[in-house]
Amino acid sequence: MNTIYCRGYVKHSYPIHLSVQAEFDDFFDLLPPSQNCFVVVDEKLLELFPKLVLRLKQSQARIIPIACTEQNKSLDGLTMIFEEVFSHKPNRDDILIAIGGGLITNLGGLAASLIMRGMRFYYVPTTLTGQIDASIGSKQAINYSGAKNWLGMYNDPEFCYVNPNFLTTKPIDELNSEMIEGVKLCLATDKQLFYRVLDEINGFRERDPQSLASFVEKMIKAKVAVVERDLLEEDYGMSMLYGHTLGHAIEMLDHEHLSHGEAVGLGMLAAARMACKLGLAKESLITLHQQILQKLGLPAVIPGHLVPSEIYAKLGHNKKNYGGKVRFVLLRDVGEMAKNGGEYYTVVPENIIMQSIKEGF
Ligand SMILES: NC(=O)c1ccc[n+]([C@@H]2O[C@H](COP(=O)([O-])OP(=O)(O)OC[C@H]3O[C@@H](n4cnc5c(N)ncnc54)[C@H](O)[C@@H]3O)[C@@H](O)[C@H]2O)c1
Ligand SMILES: [Zn+2]
Repeated sequence: MNTIYCRGYVKHSYPIHLSVQAEFDDFFDLLPPSQNCFVVVDEKLLELFPKLVLRLKQSQARIIPIACTEQNKSLDGLTMIFEEVFSHKPNRDDILIAIGGGLITNLGGLAASLIMRGMRFYYVPTTLTGQIDASIGSKQAINYSGAKNWLGMYNDPEFCYVNPNFLTTKPIDELNSEMIEGVKLCLATDKQLFYRVLDEINGFRERDPQSLASFVEKMIKAKVAVVERDLLEEDYGMSMLYGHTLGHAIEMLDHEHLSHGEAVGLGMLAAARMACKLGLAKESLITLHQQILQKLGLPAVIPGHLVPSEIYAKLGHNKKNYGGKVRFVLLRDVGEMAKNGGEYYTVVPENIIMQSIKEGF
């Protein structure tokens, strides 16, 4: 097991344990003996990883299965966990283990943070997004009043156990779409890492566990580097949002057909076009974005049934829209975000945004 340490919000740092053990045995070595454990787990995993669940039950852990839906990432989802935990008279030394994708770790982490002003919790992320993004960075949240992640807080797990063997049951198209978030971060912040990651994408697609592990490790390091520099995502952490301004707008209009990652990929390509039109970047940046999407098997054109003016109108719903002006994270080059007045965003005029959207079809 290889361990990477990440700066926490409350703790000085917490460990992210990277393992490739096929049966997750080393996870059980990390559990303290004779401690009550509550396991908040994506209910789909009960069938996908029955041996793991059986072993948890044998260790007297109380299993709390949750259906992985955005509706459950809510006060109702929290209530389900609270009812189960409080029916067993917990104490503050008990442990909550959240096993699942970003949805379950966000929900479980928030529940643990609220129970008795904070019980101990571990993250076991089982999706690529969970392993390289959602479980690193101390953020937990639930949806509220129709808005994503409106209720939440910063708090740190005691550790995070990352094992790419969980990814072997993920459909390949979902994996590719989740991979764009890691590629995004390297692209925006670390040129060397980006080109190494790009070289490895093919091995990853074959799901060879070693390549998967090496890939996941690189992407975790990229995220940890950003968290170390700007945990609250107010400055350098804006890199996390690359491709997301326009990506969210496209996702909102077509979430039935496009995954989050696919929409972000299209948002990144549009951002590259904007950067070129503003004279910040060279045309080769656009070609590079197209190559990345092609390599990952992700769409490189906006679905034809969407309307450019409607996409533009949706930008108004984005949190990064300030005073009627739309701000984008743009790149000058690979690993180099454009800076304006000391800030990592660029206000882009409407005509440039519209041209970039139209060229995306
Ligand atoms: N806190 C953060 O910084 C942060 C960052 C990124 C995303 N998020 C949040 O994470 C959530 C998205 O996370 P996600 O993309 O991991 O999706 P998810 O947790 O919604 O899971 C996606 C799908 O994968 C399934 N799944 C989970 N593990 C699996 C496995 N091993 N094999 C097969 N199927 C599996 C789930 O049942 C679900 O159907 C969103 O709610 C988002 O807001 C938070
Ligand atoms: Zn995202």
